[in-house]
Amino acid sequence: MADQSLRGFLEMVERDFPEELVRIKEPVERTDITPTVFEFERAGRSPVIVFERVEGFEHSVVTNIAGNRKLLAVCLGVEPGELPAAYKDRCQNYFPVEIAESAPWREVVIEGDDVDLNKLPIPFHFPIDAAPYITAGQIVARDPETGVDTTGFHRLMLAGKNRLGVSLHSRRRMYHFHQKAEARGEPLQAAVSIGVHPVHYMGSMAYHYPPGVRKYEIIGALFGEPYRVAKCGTDGLEVPEGAEIVLEGEILNDVHEPEGPFGEFTGYASYRSTQNVFVVKRVYMRKDAIFHSVASGMSADHILISCVSREAEILNTLRRNLPNVISVHVPSNTAGALLAIVQMKKTAEGQPQQAIMAALGTEFYCKCVVVVDEDVDIFNLSDVAWAVITRTRAEKDINFIHGAMGAILDPISDPEDHTLTKIGIDATKPAGRDFAERLEISEEQRERVRGILESAGVQL
Ligand SMILES: Cc1cc2nc3c(=O)[nH]c(=O)nc-3n(C[C@H](O)[C@H](O)[C@H](O)COP(=O)(O)O)c2cc1C
Repeated sequence: MADQSLRGFLEMVERDFPEELVRIKEPVERTDITPTVFEFERAGRSPVIVFERVEGFEHSVVTNIAGNRKLLAVCLGVEPGELPAAYKDRCQNYFPVEIAESAPWREVVIEGDDVDLNKLPIPFHFPIDAAPYITAGQIVARDPETGVDTTGFHRLMLAGKNRLGVSLHSRRRMYHFHQKAEARGEPLQAAVSIGVHPVHYMGSMAYHYPPGVRKYEIIGALFGEPYRVAKCGTDGLEVPEGAEIVLEGEILNDVHEPEGPFGEFTGYASYRSTQNVFVVKRVYMRKDAIFHSVASGMSADHILISCVSREAEILNTLRRNLPNVISVHVPSNTAGALLAIVQMKKTAEGQPQQAIMAALGTEFYCKCVVVVDEDVDIFNLSDVAWAVITRTRAEKDINFIHGAMGAILDPISDPEDHTLTKIGIDATKPAGRDFAERLEISEEQRERVRGILESAGVQL
């Protein structure tokens, strides 16, 4: 059985990929945590970062557990290039959960008036944030009609010792569960797990699956074995056995309080919020609980997993009709899900347009699809831009779809109805006729030059 906990993941990284885990022993402020992740990104690195001492708090903080394709691929036992296909192939082999009788997070229990969220090292991520934000809170709740639960990240703003502001703006399952509870005049019973394995993070970002399936069954599918969960006190809800901290409570009905602004994945401040309120009634935690935080804003930690799940879902749709589609890349440094790059070995004109329509129809966040040939490196945005600029005939290869559904958080979507114009760019060479020959330098020649430089003492 795999170690399905965050701790197990951290131990694995420290043991097998020590260069990918940075421990900071010097004391830091809670405002330092997310900016450290961005400083590494600027330097072209994305390690897991553990802050052992945060001024004013007892718990250590870990961040950026999901900002690195190599480590995510290791979690699924594949190479980074195989990640979307592995995600796509595995996430439908649902496994029922295994219920554990005990869980380490039951070691410490804090209830009622003793609950004080101010004791947790909740980071301030960006200067525009309205307050400290828990960004790695996996909320679990049940559909009030069917009893099927879901789990997903939802930002939680510190609003009092037992009060958190929450926004259900992505309007997916959790939003509808809350709407249904509210229609019955009831709060939505919920629990928040902080500190879960990256595979849990990955499974929670699955979008396309039947309504009767639990996200925990998808997480089990990705682990290749049942996901181990344990019951908490709220409504018999199940939470990961390996979690570090569990907050039990409810999302109030018919109560709205100011929440936000917050630094969103688009790279902009977001003032949009459903302004819901989560009241915490009980806190469980391990004695030495590690506080997990996701770096917010346009960090890979915030976006990369949703990029992989979108790549997998688009690939899944496209491969059904276009087996000559090779790969899909949803880049995290252009606000993730909004852009998809499709690589195909075109065999007939019109195929890129088919791919564009299918990809845009797979996920409403996606608003720009670029299709390129097999010689273009879709993980290198300069190569993609070069293909667009040299292979696109603007009058026929760029297509617009007006009035399509966009993401609410996309700052250019219509402020009233969130529609926008989507765009498809066919940047493939014309089929069936000669086209300008791409300049190449052979691998043999490159190796020779590297040898010359090495002998000359020049480091690249
Ligand atoms: C780090 C992170 C933070 C997120 N924060 C929110 C949020 O505050 N509100 C929201 O509605 N969705 C948020 N999302 C997106 C949801 O978690 C995601 O859409 C999820 O699939 C929803 O699951 P559901 O359909 O089961 O409700 C966030 C995603 C990530 C990765």
